Amino acid sequence: MAGRIPQNFIDDLISRADIIEVINARVPLRKKGKEYTACCPFHNEKTPSFTVSDSKQFYHCFGCGAHGTALGFIMEYENLDFVDAVEALATEYNLEVPRENTHFSSTNSKDDKQPLYDILEKVSVLFKQQLKTSNKAIQYLQQRGLTGEVAKAYQIGYAPEGWNFLTDHLGTDKNTIDALIATGLLVINENDKQYDRFRDRIIFPITDRRGLIIGFGGRVIDQGEPKYLNSPENAVFHKGQELYGLYEARKAVRNLEQLIIVEGYMDVVALAQHGVNYAIASLGTATTSEQLQRAFRTVRTVIFCYDGDQAGIKAAWRALENALPLLRDGFEAKFLFLPEGEDPDSMIRKEGKKNFEQRLTSAKPLSEFLFERLSENINVNTSEGKSSLTEKARPLLSKLPESVFKDLLYQELASRTGLNASKLQLSATVNNTVIVSSKPKSNREIKQNATRDAIALLLQSPKLAFEVHIPDSFKDSAIQGLPLLYEIHKLIQSHPEITPSALLERWRDNNNFSALQKMMQRNIVGSDDPQNTKNVLVDTIKNLIDKNNDHRYEILEKKLQETGLNETELGEYKALFTR
Ligand code: UTP
Ligand code: MN
Repeated sequence: MAGRIPQNFIDDLISRADIIEVINARVPLRKKGKEYTACCPFHNEKTPSFTVSDSKQFYHCFGCGAHGTALGFIMEYENLDFVDAVEALATEYNLEVPRENTHFSSTNSKDDKQPLYDILEKVSVLFKQQLKTSNKAIQYLQQRGLTGEVAKAYQIGYAPEGWNFLTDHLGTDKNTIDALIATGLLVINENDKQYDRFRDRIIFPITDRRGLIIGFGGRVIDQGEPKYLNSPENAVFHKGQELYGLYEARKAVRNLEQLIIVEGYMDVVALAQHGVNYAIASLGTATTSEQLQRAFRTVRTVIFCYDGDQAGIKAAWRALENALPLLRDGFEAKFLFLPEGEDPDSMIRKEGKKNFEQRLTSAKPLSEFLFERLSENINVNTSEGKSSLTEKARPLLSKLPESVFKDLLYQELASRTGLNASKLQLSATVNNTVIVSSKPKSNREIKQNATRDAIALLLQSPKLAFEVHIPDSFKDSAIQGLPLLYEIHKLIQSHPEITPSALLERWRDNNNFSALQKMMQRNIVGSDDPQNTKNVLVDTIKNLIDKNNDHRYEILEKKLQETGLNETELGEYKALFTR
């Protein structure tokens, strides 16, 4: 099993990679002044608005807003996830990706998860063995049209009857029991007795993007309640983020172009059985935005496949709402509604691959589904109908990123309502800006965006970290951004050689990543000349210290009046008062 890639290797690789080389190998660049340009590979355009900065090691498209590091580019351009992009980049620089030996090191939190991965893998092997010896389970799968080959590809297994199958086979030492409980494979009842969660069920292992097993779904054989039982969430299994079958689809299809999102495990497996091996399923819940992001990181076209009944249409609509913000130019969501009473499993068994793929080709484009549904019960021939359609459509369309597609949908809305497209779009933008009102001001004169400026300066020129002192009080400051500034400063101090893009990539899995990406491109007034940049940063930080002190002072003063201060707080209050 592959271990973790050491962080210092990732830092080093990113520092070594040259974004100009990396992009130029895929999209030929032309030098223009200090920067390089090309027609943007992420949206359609005739005049280049895609620029790559050598000094920032960052790309940015003024047309569609795409931006990122060399690694980010590879992820977007080749539809790879982080680890795969690291592998691809390393290959380009003839480096072999080292892996930490996770069994022997135990210094970080990822390793705490190792026992869970290990037990899940062991249990999966047991369940697969059990399937081979259970006539009942084999017969059930055969009756549902599955062959051994597909069962193998999806690692289908069988959890036998009995309450203690797992401990009988894996032992009862503390580590084993702990891991079984942590993964939810063992359940504890009110009397503190442990028993197996999955009994007499067909087992569908759920894998993460690396192919590691993180949980199971189990179906009763024939009748029984509940029909499906799933692993509970645990340290390695987060339902809203994983997609059943994604790893298997990526493995089976070399250049995946589209993915079908279906509702059930059996749908994914049955489609694969008939050669449609690019279906995935969310795990018993509506498809979340995180899941869709993962799907769109892998392919450009996602087809949602649902029942044509009321529930199916509702589910599709929720999917549409989640998909809208992700539809940059070149990305597409479509909807396939099956005849009532059919699911993908029953459908493909009835009509075979060719007909099913025929249905996929004629799936409804998002725009069609959107306007069809919005226009339900509206008479668009009346003024009332037109205005009601506009009102319903605008908040949805405004969720779309700036794109040709967005413009086209506004045009479509315009042609349906007879209103002017650019007016519709404009007033939508204005409405949106009003909502983002300005933040309350502190009583001292505070530079606007000082926090952002300081972070941007450190990100763009990490060496500046050695020119300034950041007080410890920023670490737990209640002012947004200060703890982040503190963390970035600290990281640079412990990694003096870190480059801007390696620094940025450290935050890839963090909530602040997209904000940080934007700061990478931020132009700070007066930062052209290096000596001056230092002064700008020093001033900005001074300003932030004032702001933080003001804020802290206000908090303490309020507390003093309300509940009084303890000795330490009183000391702090006095110091702030006399500053
Ligand atoms: P369905 O009830 O549509 O079942 O559940 P299905 O996929 O068609 O299964 P078969 O064909 O009867 O075997 C769709 C999905 O909803 C979740 C499961 O993820 C299932 O695959 N589900 C359903 C549960 O989690 N629990 C249940 O009791 C039922
Ligand atoms: Mn079914």
